[in-house]
Amino acid sequence: VLKLVVLISGTGSNLRSLLEASQDAQFPARVVAIGADRDADGLALGEEFGIPTFTVPFTAFPDREAWGTELIAQVRLWEPDLVILSGLMRLVPAAVVDAFSPHLINTHPAYLPEFPGAHGVRDALAAGVDQTGASLIVVDNSVDGGPIIAQERVPVLPGDTESSLHDRIKPVERRLLIQAVLDIANSHLDLKELAR
Ligand code: GAR
Repeated sequence: VLKLVVLISGTGSNLRSLLEASQDAQFPARVVAIGADRDADGLALGEEFGIPTFTVPFTAFPDREAWGTELIAQVRLWEPDLVILSGLMRLVPAAVVDAFSPHLINTHPAYLPEFPGAHGVRDALAAGVDQTGASLIVVDNSVDGGPIIAQERVPVLPGDTESSLHDRIKPVERRLLIQAVLDIANSHLDLKELAR
């Protein structure tokens, strides 16, 4: 069984879908811990699903590197096979990439390399495109430029707001994420090979 540590900043709705999937005894992965860089709403899922949580508050450290060092220590305690950034809204420092990549993946609400960064949904809307998407990538030292594991198009509809569009993208992200976890667990997807 693949051991997952999931890192969040927000509501953790994609995390919830992973937790629900892993309630099935046949699912080949388990979330062993949930971590956050702040007092994220999604940490409540830990209590709901009986999963340990930890917080490494970004603002409690003098710089990104010091934060990253503590994050590495906290994540390593759980000896994960895979670390998932599921709405972690911080760039991780190079030491975190070195520690975990290519077993460090990120979900992103756009069709990368289109609209990288913290505002993928807003930027797609502002650009006036008629389709955007969802992507799952291996984290490297670029901003959302790592190898693409899976991605899928999502239409932008007339009258879409950032939240209506994001709500249409998230279920696609969840599907891509769960499929990738299955594929990794069943050795149908080799992140080392992908990142080579
Ligand atoms: C997701 O759409 C995820 O792709 C995005 O934050 C959302 C988290 O939602 N991440 C990024 O934009 C990273 N740059 P959730 O907390 O409801 O799962």
